[in-house]
Amino acid sequence: MMSSILVVGATRGLGAALVEEYASNSDSSTRIFGTSRSDTKPTGFPEQIKWLTGIDLSQSNVGENLVSQLKSEKPLDVVIINAGRFTTEDFSADKGPNWDEEVAMYTISSVAPVFVVHRLAHANLLGHGSKVILVSSEAGSITLRHEKEGGGNYAHHASKAALNMAGKLLSIDLKDVIVSIVHPGFMRTEMTRNVGFDKHWDAGGAVTSEAAAKSLVEWTEKLDFSKSGEYWAPRGPRDIGMAETVLGKNLETPLKLPW
Ligand SMILES: NC(=O)c1ccc[n+]([C@@H]2O[C@H](COP(=O)([O-])OP(=O)(O)OC[C@H]3O[C@@H](n4cnc5c(N)ncnc54)[C@H](OP(=O)(O)O)[C@@H]3O)[C@@H](O)[C@H]2O)c1
Repeated sequence: MMSSILVVGATRGLGAALVEEYASNSDSSTRIFGTSRSDTKPTGFPEQIKWLTGIDLSQSNVGENLVSQLKSEKPLDVVIINAGRFTTEDFSADKGPNWDEEVAMYTISSVAPVFVVHRLAHANLLGHGSKVILVSSEAGSITLRHEKEGGGNYAHHASKAALNMAGKLLSIDLKDVIVSIVHPGFMRTEMTRNVGFDKHWDAGGAVTSEAAAKSLVEWTEKLDFSKSGEYWAPRGPRDIGMAETVLGKNLETPLKLPW
């Protein structure tokens, strides 16, 4: 087990399940940091989790703020940037795309992660073999978009496609660090419930955030430099709606995703 882990966006859903999973499977010497957007420490988590508060990915100083709370820490073994936002959009005349929501989604998904990783790296909080996991989505794959699924949700998809690009570039700049871009799974969390996707949970093979966290922790443990800068679904194609339609049958698990 790793000795220091940082999960950015750890209050709910997958992020909360990740810090809980690390806490339940590591000894007390393992340093587990979780961030919350609010200024207060969330309650009900294991004591072992150290909370860094006021870490808001929509703020331009997010990287400095994070680093200032990690002063005197040794390089982190694992950094998982998980925070995300999803609101729906369509192309109708009355609803249509929403400017402020689009800016928020792009900022949180694809702008902030670059600034966070940049600051961590220059504060020597990433060392040789540190693993940076960027939580993307199969939604960010251009190849996997298909007529059957339909259009819409512009910023949801495009902000993750932009994250994928940023992740690839980070892997080129950070030769010493393993950068992994992942689709964590279709999950039964507030994110999907709030947009009414809970009606697809059963048919779409949605899993609990705990199950997705276990798979992501295992994926992270096995990672090596050969996969740096790549885009993968550790849980395979089972919950990726258009996987078979676009890529054909008998797909592997884990599945390397097309950009
Ligand atoms: N759910 C799925 O099916 C699915 C599928 C593919 C990919 N993903 C990706 O997986 C990640 C986790 O999803 P989830 O379903 O666990 O989402 P969730 O239940 O909605 O939780 C989102 C997390 O992100 C944090 N967050 C939101 N905006 C933030 C901001 N501006 N600054 C800092 N933190 C912020 C939230 O903190 P607060 O508590 O402060 O709001 C919360 O901890 C996301 O990146 C998502 O895009 C999810």
